Amino acid sequence: LVSASTAADGLDAGLDGWADRPGPLYQRLADALRDALDLGIPAGTALPAERQLALQLAISRTTVVAAYRILRAEGRLISRQGSGTRVAGPARPARARLATKARHDAATPRHATGRPARPASAVGFRSLIGRDEAAVDLATAGVGADGVLTAGLLADAQAELLRLAAGAVGYFPQGLPSLRRAIARHLTERGVATSEQQILVTNGAQQAIALLARRYASPGTTVAMENPTYAGALDAFAGAGARFVSFPAAEDGDPGPALQALVRRQRPRLLYLMPTFHNPTGLVATAETRRQLAALAAEHGLPLVEDNTLEPLAVGAPPPPPVAAFDSGGTVITIGSLSKVAWAGLRIAWIRAGPRLIAELMKVKAAEDLGSSVPSQVLGRAVLDDFPRISGLRSAQVCECLQRAARLLGEQLPAWRFRQPAGGHSLWLRLPGADASAFAATAMRHGVTVIPGPQLSPDGSFADHIRLQFLQPPGVLEAGIQRLAAAWADYTRAADRELEVIV
Ligand SMILES: Cc1ncc(COP(=O)(O)O)c(C=O)c1O
Repeated sequence: LVSASTAADGLDAGLDGWADRPGPLYQRLADALRDALDLGIPAGTALPAERQLALQLAISRTTVVAAYRILRAEGRLISRQGSGTRVAGPARPARARLATKARHDAATPRHATGRPARPASAVGFRSLIGRDEAAVDLATAGVGADGVLTAGLLADAQAELLRLAAGAVGYFPQGLPSLRRAIARHLTERGVATSEQQILVTNGAQQAIALLARRYASPGTTVAMENPTYAGALDAFAGAGARFVSFPAAEDGDPGPALQALVRRQRPRLLYLMPTFHNPTGLVATAETRRQLAALAAEHGLPLVEDNTLEPLAVGAPPPPPVAAFDSGGTVITIGSLSKVAWAGLRIAWIRAGPRLIAELMKVKAAEDLGSSVPSQVLGRAVLDDFPRISGLRSAQVCECLQRAARLLGEQLPAWRFRQPAGGHSLWLRLPGADASAFAATAMRHGVTVIPGPQLSPDGSFADHIRLQFLQPPGVLEAGIQRLAAAWADYTRAADRELEVIV
C-alpha cells in the first residue's frame, strides 16, 4: 500500500500546470489526471473528494465531477458510495512510469510561450494504429476498392508499368509525368487551368499537408483553421509547433467578418480549410464564398490551403470549382487525393501551386522519399483516365450509405441531431446533454469506435459532438449503430444515476 502523502504528491505533480492545457476546463482536468495516473498512482489509491479538489484548485465542483466522470467512463477510476473515488486497474512498475513520462515529454511540443501544444499524432491515426479488430470501426473511413480497380483498369496500368520498368530508373521526385499530366487535365476540367509544372505528387493528402506544415509552420507561428477540422491536419501543424486560431466552417454567404477580423488581428502564417465537403460536417462553400476567400488571401498575401480530398464524394449537385479557380494573387494551394474516390491504399494525392513553391516542396519530399511508388502512380493515372465512371460509382455509394445511416439513426437514436451533409463520408452528430469523450469511451466498451468532437477541434470544443463515418458496408453500419444505441442506453442510464447521487 502507498501512503496517502505519496499518492497526493504524485497527484500534485501530475496536476502541475493542468489549466494551461487546451480544451474546456473539465477536459483539461481529466487529461491532467489521466497523465498523473499514467505516471503510476497505484490501483486502489483514493482520490480527493470532489468538493476538496474543487477547493484546492479553486474551481467549481461540477468541473471536478465532469472530469471524474470521464475517467470513470474510461475505466480509470471507480466510485462507490461511501468509499469515494479510487484508482482502477493494476499499478504499473516504476520503470514503465519513467518511460511513459519520458515519452510524454518528448512527444509534447511546446509553444514559444511554454504552453504545451497538442502532441504530434495525438488523434488522427489512433484508430489506425491501435485498431481493435473486434470493434466496429465507425471512426475511420474504410472504403474498399471493389468495383473501382477493375481488370480493365489494371491491364491499362500494367501496360504502362511494363514499358516504364523496361526503360526508366524509377525515381520521379515531382511525380510520374503521365500522372502529373492527368492531374493537370483533371483540374483544368474542374475550372482551374493547370500545367504539369504546377503539380507535386504526394503519398496521400496527409503527406501534402505535412509538407506544407514543414514549409510554413514552426514553433510560435499561427495557423488558422476551421473549427471543427480534420484531425490529421491538427496533428501535422501541431507537430511543426504551430498554435491555432479557428473560425467556423463556411456555410452560406461570405466567410464572414469574423474570418476577416481574425486574419487582420492574428496575422496567421497560413489558412487551412476544406471548402468542399468539409470533414466532419459535410458542408460545402458556395462559389461566392470561394471568391471571397481567394480575395481575402490575395489581399493579405496569405497562403490559403484548400484540402479537397473529399471533393469526389458529392451527395447531390457537384460542388462549385475549387477556390484556386478564383485566385488572383497566386496564394491558393490546392490539395487533391485519390484516397476517397478510388482507394486509400494507392497513397496517391497531389499539391497544386505555383511552379516555384512546387519546386521547393519537391526538394523537401525528395529528401524524405525520393518520390512516390511508380506502380501506385501508374494506377493513379489509370484511375484518372476512368474518372467519370469511378466518381459516379462512389457518389451513388455515398448517397446509399447516407440514406441507410440516417434511417438507422432515426430509428435507434432519435435524440441525436445532425444536419444532412452535402457530401463527404461523415456525420457530425450532436448528442444533447452528453459528454462526447465519455460517451466514446462507453461506446468503445460496447465494441464500436467513433471520434469525440474535442479531438477534431483546434481548441477542444464541441464537447457534445461525435463524428461517425457512414461510408461503410451495410453490415458494418448496421452492427455499429446497433452497438451505439446500446452504448447510449448504458451511458444515459449511468448519467441519470449520477444525477440522482448529486441531487
Ligand atoms: C480532409 C482530409 N484530408 C486528408 C485526408 C488524408 O487522405 P489521404 O489518404 O489522401 O492521405 C483525409 C482522410 O480522411 C481527409 O478527410
